[in-house]
Amino acid sequence: MLIDTYGRVATDLRVSLTDRCNLRCTYCMPEEGLQWLTKSDLLSDDETVRLIRLAVTRLGITEIRFTGGEPLLRPGLVGIVERCAALEPRPRMSLTTNGIGLKRTAAALRAAGLDRVNVSLDTLRPDAFKTLTRRDRHADVLDGLRAAHEAGLTPVKVNTVLMPGLNGDEAPDLLAWAVEHGYELRFIEQMPLDAQHGWKRDGMITAGDILTSLRTRFTLTEEDGAARGSAPAERWLVDGGPHRVGVIASVTRPFCGACDRTRLTADGQVRNCLFAQEETDLRGALRSDAPDEEIARLWKLAMWGKKAGSGLDDPAFLQPDRPMSAIGG
Ligand code: 5AD
Ligand code: SF4
Repeated sequence: MLIDTYGRVATDLRVSLTDRCNLRCTYCMPEEGLQWLTKSDLLSDDETVRLIRLAVTRLGITEIRFTGGEPLLRPGLVGIVERCAALEPRPRMSLTTNGIGLKRTAAALRAAGLDRVNVSLDTLRPDAFKTLTRRDRHADVLDGLRAAHEAGLTPVKVNTVLMPGLNGDEAPDLLAWAVEHGYELRFIEQMPLDAQHGWKRDGMITAGDILTSLRTRFTLTEEDGAARGSAPAERWLVDGGPHRVGVIASVTRPFCGACDRTRLTADGQVRNCLFAQEETDLRGALRSDAPDEEIARLWKLAMWGKKAGSGLDDPAFLQPDRPMSAIGG
């Protein structure tokens, strides 16, 4: 098992498959992009599957989330999903994507064994989308969402980050739209993970703000206080249900005490937290022909060092060197 000194057990593995992206969201990347990893930096498909197999068969991982950058830009994605679906015990698998490209790939991903997708969409307004992502691709995301829903990658979840002056007033519109289309909407508080290190706590829209705004149009009732478990989203029934809305208050109500995650970057580094300052190099071990036992030992050691919390509230908080796109959401 992947256990830490606070007794938390990681069962959820987030695998970043590329650091590249076809959008440039301001809270993640600078306009000009970043210094991308090279082909030899990246784990190959075989190396990626080997680490996932090891995590599933030896370390108690039951849930795999593929992320990026934008994971649909990884050429071998469908094959990786297919090989992971064949593992025993079969892990649950989902994909966090910006949705562009899902129109083309949703059916193949479903056939390969993917269970679900989380699509990032912050606004219903094409002009605001263009300002936020610096690309004019709003319609492609909507097409992708529809394709995922039709392919049965359900429940389709939509991740939304609100920012003042841009989409800060859109919460009720987004929820009405999500309810209408059968998507499950989850608002995520903006975290200090932008490449430009421009995040300020004062400038963020909090979970409290979001709930207040939603309640101007909807009745929200707490689903079941005890049901949150390790899920970061606090979920609410919309107008009595059955539709739900989630709020992920990573900054104002951190859920580190129940964290069940471990992360693998596209270049084969284990991170025990989004905000960790240290990484453990599994790629080096893989490429020096280390046996599975040795890699499992390194991974367990990495988790043992997991800190109690993100440290966001500590005045000495240091943002990690890697931005979100190079860690995986
Ligand atoms: N704060 C909060 N969420 C972020 N995401 C990317 N950067 C940030 C940030 N700084 C979100 C994306 C996507 C998921 C992977 O993380 O919108 O939904
Ligand atoms: Fe791409 Fe996601 Fe970063 Fe936006 S937040 S630039 S979609 S990796």
